Amino acid sequence: MRVGQLTAVVLVATASVAAAYSEEFFSSTSRLEQLVSREEVVVDRLERYLEDAYQSLENVRSYVSSFREMRSLSSIHHPVDAFLMVRRLTVDWDIVEDDLRRQINQTQETLGSVASFRADRPYPAADDLHGAAVALIRLQDTYQLNMTRLPRGHIVGVGPDPAEFQSAQQLTARDCLFIGKHAFSRGLYNAAIEWFEAALWRTEEEQGDGATATRDEIEPLLTSTIKLHDSVLEEQGPRGEDWRTNPVPVDRHLASQERYQPARLAVFAPKLHQQQADAEEEDHFHRLCRGERLRTPAEEADLSCHLTANGSPLLVLAPLRVEVLSLRPYIVMLHQLVTDAEVATFQQLAGPRLATSRHRATDGHFVSSMSRISKNAWIPDDEDPSGTLARVTQRVAASSGLKCDNDRAAEAFQVANYGIGGLYVTHTDHHMGEVPHGPHADWETVIGDRLATWMVYLSDVPSGGATVFPRAGVTVWPERGSVAFWWNLNAAGRGDDDTKHAACPVLHGSKWVSNKWIHYNEQFRAKPCGLTEDAVHQTP
Ligand SMILES: *[C@@H]1O[C@H](CO)[C@@H](O)[C@H](O)[C@H]1NC(C)=O
Ligand SMILES: *[C@@H]1O[C@H](CO)[C@@H](O)[C@H](O)[C@H]1NC(C)=O
Repeated sequence: MRVGQLTAVVLVATASVAAAYSEEFFSSTSRLEQLVSREEVVVDRLERYLEDAYQSLENVRSYVSSFREMRSLSSIHHPVDAFLMVRRLTVDWDIVEDDLRRQINQTQETLGSVASFRADRPYPAADDLHGAAVALIRLQDTYQLNMTRLPRGHIVGVGPDPAEFQSAQQLTARDCLFIGKHAFSRGLYNAAIEWFEAALWRTEEEQGDGATATRDEIEPLLTSTIKLHDSVLEEQGPRGEDWRTNPVPVDRHLASQERYQPARLAVFAPKLHQQQADAEEEDHFHRLCRGERLRTPAEEADLSCHLTANGSPLLVLAPLRVEVLSLRPYIVMLHQLVTDAEVATFQQLAGPRLATSRHRATDGHFVSSMSRISKNAWIPDDEDPSGTLARVTQRVAASSGLKCDNDRAAEAFQVANYGIGGLYVTHTDHHMGEVPHGPHADWETVIGDRLATWMVYLSDVPSGGATVFPRAGVTVWPERGSVAFWWNLNAAGRGDDDTKHAACPVLHGSKWVSNKWIHYNEQFRAKPCGLTEDAVHQTP
């Protein structure tokens, strides 16, 4: 079967699959919480409806059983039975008729009130379900989640101290089939095979109490996807703009061929501090997200922790607790620099702004982009009446040794919230040597490039959500109140592409961060240019 044919089959089966997926609901914990309380309102109404319906049906039921009882004794000759029959056909029937009518009325009323409740509030649409499926596929791919456990809702987390998470409900065979079709329609043939296989063993498990999908539905899809997987791999290779396969064919005979020998035996060798191809960058990104160490012990030997006031009177009494994560580029974690009360202020200020920063596309759905799945809000210090943000800005200046006291020197705090599956693909914070363009280009030229990034974690993340640097081989695990700090430009003011970084998808929980970007031109006194072309800043 050709690609086109099978695609057609799958597309018919999954209804329309738009190119852009909305992950609005799935990727925002606060939206999911809203949805739970909305669903609860609807379920309360349904419960009332059911109670009323049972009540009405009780009358209908007693009418039916009264007739059956009489019939079984077959005694219309008895005057009492004759009376009761006439009563049934008159008064009792009126009650039954009223009940049936009332039920129509209640059904319509329930339908109408639920419809008007839903009309006023955003509800997920088919698009959101596609988005949720894509997010699950991506989480499974990034974290290599065990496909025996995931359909049962069992996830082993990542991080220094991985926890395990069990969902309240499990995926059915039909859910796995649905997700597999999505993987397929996005060209993720390797993932599609895994989900179809999961659908097969789930349907075996479900045999007892009504399976949600049949072997006859699943098997042909699995077989043709395996064929397609292998032929795409043979003809086009394992990876392209819009497809992915495993490095080796599923078919044993094909896989044993000489040409797949290198792929079969391949051992991952990190490629750090150099240009990475897209596939390599993604591979490094995923490995770092999972907590794999990519640097050798020798490379990590020079990393250390120290206390410093960084030359600031503000920090003499409470010196910075610096954990050096990388020397070139210089990346540090400043532990516990922001208090719980300050963290709470950031979230309170950001909450309503995040809510209003969302916008609807013309079709009424909320739009989001696949490359940055999060919500952001900018908060100028002077919009915080408590003065907390201004105080934290002073601490940014003290801890970085840089000027932050005007809007040419540093940007306002940007707060971002990432829900489940929320991520930010690999990027740099500086302009990568490109002349700024767009509506603010002149301003950006005046203030210069982003010299340094100061990013505070406003939440712990139960699993996932690390900040990773694929070229530097660094993983930073979120820690509430602690700050990741790095220099985007070297001492000569040139962008350091080894600072390319990404936010890993959140596997469990939600993630809050706030960034302060510090610009180059205002720092001519605080940080004079370095003497050599490749000198880098290594403070604090
Ligand atoms: C249906 O319900 C409405 C509101 O409770 C009521 O006004 C109306 O009379 C009912 N109609 C019937 C046919 O029972
Ligand atoms: C996945 O989980 C199952 C069941 O817990 C286990 O038997 C299996 O070894 C795991 N697979 C991998 C690749 O870890």
